[in-house]
Amino acid sequence: MDILKTKSDMREWSKKKKKDSKTICLVPTMGYFHQGHISLMEKGKPLCDELVVSLFVNPAQFGPNEDLNSYPSNIENDLALAEKAGVTAVFLPDKKNIYPENFQTQIKLQDLPKFLCGKFRPVHFAGVATVVTKLFNIVMPDIAIFGQKDYQQLQIIKQLTLDLDFDIKIMAGDIIREKDGLAMSSRNAYLSKVQRTSALSLSKSLNLAKELIAGGEKNPAAVKNRIEAFICTFPETNIEYISFCNPKTLENIDSIENHVLLAIAVKVGKTRLIDNALINPAQ
Ligand code: PAF
Repeated sequence: MDILKTKSDMREWSKKKKKDSKTICLVPTMGYFHQGHISLMEKGKPLCDELVVSLFVNPAQFGPNEDLNSYPSNIENDLALAEKAGVTAVFLPDKKNIYPENFQTQIKLQDLPKFLCGKFRPVHFAGVATVVTKLFNIVMPDIAIFGQKDYQQLQIIKQLTLDLDFDIKIMAGDIIREKDGLAMSSRNAYLSKVQRTSALSLSKSLNLAKELIAGGEKNPAAVKNRIEAFICTFPETNIEYISFCNPKTLENIDSIENHVLLAIAVKVGKTRLIDNALINPAQ
């Protein structure tokens, strides 16, 4: 497994592979790997000749009061896990290499960041869109894979790929859950024992919503109220949003008829957790 620490080394590596007609799949990450990351690598492995993982905690996507400085990290372990998953190169740049002095450009989408997490994290998606655009230009992948837990991020990346004419196939990886249902996240490492139990309120809410909808409930507000009351029974929870929306545009819907996205963000203690489900009332 090759480790490339600068964008020029990474680009040279990719150019050489492309010259040899190799296809490249990129899994962008911020490290501290769990099974969710590994599943994205495993998904990519059979689809390409070269599997690249980028590992960069992107300061541009953290707000001033967010967890940039405490974001968990274990690079040695990440490299061992990546190698085991069959990764052929890890792109491990530092901050200065990605954002040199006098860096000035931002990629901002018009509509998709107005909803869900974007409402509460005003700088987040411009930071994500900018770094992902840079990663696409540096690594030049044929395929890039993103987890569906960050559903809004995935939609934003699909849109920017289309808008900016990247010749890259964007693929989604399923949400990977712990045995008890908690969606895997590097941020789960922050949770105390009590908070870990409260964190289950998210996945349990999704199940509760599915049950209510399967029982014929079509009113999003009614389901939302039930979920809200349910989450509030868990200690240290603070709901940021519960949203039923159109899975493509992310706009709120007022009746649960076709495919809908239910997306939830809850602060458990200081840890912000998200989860979501695509629900089809016909099924
Ligand atoms: O999902 C993430 O880990 C990050 O937002 C990403 C896509 C690697 C960009 O920094």
